[in-house]
Amino acid sequence: MPKQFYITTPIYYVNDRPHIGHAYCTIVADVIARAHRLMGEEVFFLTGLDEHGQKVQQAAQAKGVTPQQFCDEMAPHWEQLWPKLLISNNDLIRTTQPRHKHVVQTILQKLYDAGEIYASEYEGWYSTRAEQFLTEKEMGPDGKFPAEYGEVTRLKEKNYFFKMSKYQDWLIAHIRDNPGFVHPDYRRNEILGFLQKPLGDLCISRPATRLAWGIPLPFDADYVTYVWFDALTNYVTAAGYGTPAFEQNWPADIHLIGKEILLFHAGYWPIMLKAAGIPLPKQIAAHGWWTRDGQKMSKSVGNVVDPVAIVEAWGADALRYYLLRELPVGSDGDWADTNFERRYNGELANDLGNLVNRSLSMINRYCKGILPQPAVPDPLDDELRALAAATAKRFPDRVAKLELNQLLGDIWDFIRRCNQYVDQCAPWALAKDPAKAARLGTVLYNLAESCRVISILLAPFIPTTAAKIRLQLGLGEAPIVLIEAQLWGMLVSNRPLGEIAPLFPKKQ
Ligand code: MSP
Repeated sequence: MPKQFYITTPIYYVNDRPHIGHAYCTIVADVIARAHRLMGEEVFFLTGLDEHGQKVQQAAQAKGVTPQQFCDEMAPHWEQLWPKLLISNNDLIRTTQPRHKHVVQTILQKLYDAGEIYASEYEGWYSTRAEQFLTEKEMGPDGKFPAEYGEVTRLKEKNYFFKMSKYQDWLIAHIRDNPGFVHPDYRRNEILGFLQKPLGDLCISRPATRLAWGIPLPFDADYVTYVWFDALTNYVTAAGYGTPAFEQNWPADIHLIGKEILLFHAGYWPIMLKAAGIPLPKQIAAHGWWTRDGQKMSKSVGNVVDPVAIVEAWGADALRYYLLRELPVGSDGDWADTNFERRYNGELANDLGNLVNRSLSMINRYCKGILPQPAVPDPLDDELRALAAATAKRFPDRVAKLELNQLLGDIWDFIRRCNQYVDQCAPWALAKDPAKAARLGTVLYNLAESCRVISILLAPFIPTTAAKIRLQLGLGEAPIVLIEAQLWGMLVSNRPLGEIAPLFPKKQ
């Protein structure tokens, strides 16, 4: 079996309510996954939920339920969101699943046996109220900790540490030698800059008396695994670590993440894998953060963009299109309703919607809904055809470089060229002259072919619309492949079109 293309999203904190930022990351991953499937690859697309930790423990306590019950109540918010956004994930991991606990403990034991983990005393300022150690960051200018932390005392605590620092030079060399390892380039530079300071060893445990809601350390049941060893390991758990499937899935091709967790993914994670003798992922791709109208989104300000509300009002395709078109993978984005509406009306309804609608309506009107034959060529047709082929040919490279907004830009250049072709050829004028019937048929055939090519290229981005275009063209629902976008003339003439309807109803 050939290796699958394996792409992951971060595992989201189960206690959060999903918002547009989480939706963004998962949609970008979905577009990449669908694009690779379109290119004929087997794809394994993973998303998931991060379910351990103090916040979950506290929230469960406050509700009077067990942490597991609390997770089970929260998980459906996430599980039910993904189909609404047309996410085609192959798996959804929850860190409370037995498969995950088993893999985390196996890897920890392996590292412990290899001498990569050691116990040490940690001493610091501890807030009993917040149940956490405080650092100088939390300290006020007066040298005191804010009142919300309650009584703060010096505390000595034994914990387990992972020998991360000894791998620092190796990691720097790996990132230097593999330019594609961190995407985009400026994030690679950021991580290299960060690695100029000593990394230190990583504290990987918490005493179970203080944090019960975690995976117990296999070599000391008085402790649980703390945050990153648990969370990051999800990527190998879901790939089937320890089973024959692992070979087929691992290494991950892309860990798509938000920029704020870059250090954990491009720093800690490769070192953990290296120490455990597991191959490294091929790429860590960090995307930017969305704000709304220039402001950070937060529940207290009440400016959070709810992806479900957008889907209900505008449809999932419109949301997917906007998020992907608005910015390159890596840059920060700012959500503004007016901008969203402008793109919907201008690009989806006008450019794309009108092209398909007027092309197919003219076939209805002038050819009784039967696709005509191309018979009378013109240099204008060759130019259209060449642009279609060039756009389709560029697709794999754009996807490989994660240039998804540029890819949409290429496709829209073609869509606009098609609209221009309609105006240049003026089928309505050709229709008035019976001597030009064959030319009219050719123009309309070329337009239908263009819509077919567009439906393939857009399928990863706006799958529902792509399928609608194909049905309107009289094509079935069979799976499509990118190669078919590179070929011209695949539509069979003298066959009826499907039923025509506007793709994006205009909104005021
Ligand atoms: N559980 C950790 C990740 C562990 S991965 C092994 C976590 N979870 S999270 O729920 O906070 O989700 C983080 C991810 O959500 C970010 O990395 C990013 O992909 C996405 N976003 C959350 N808010 C965002 C924005 N405002 N804008 C864009 N994406 C952001 O961290």
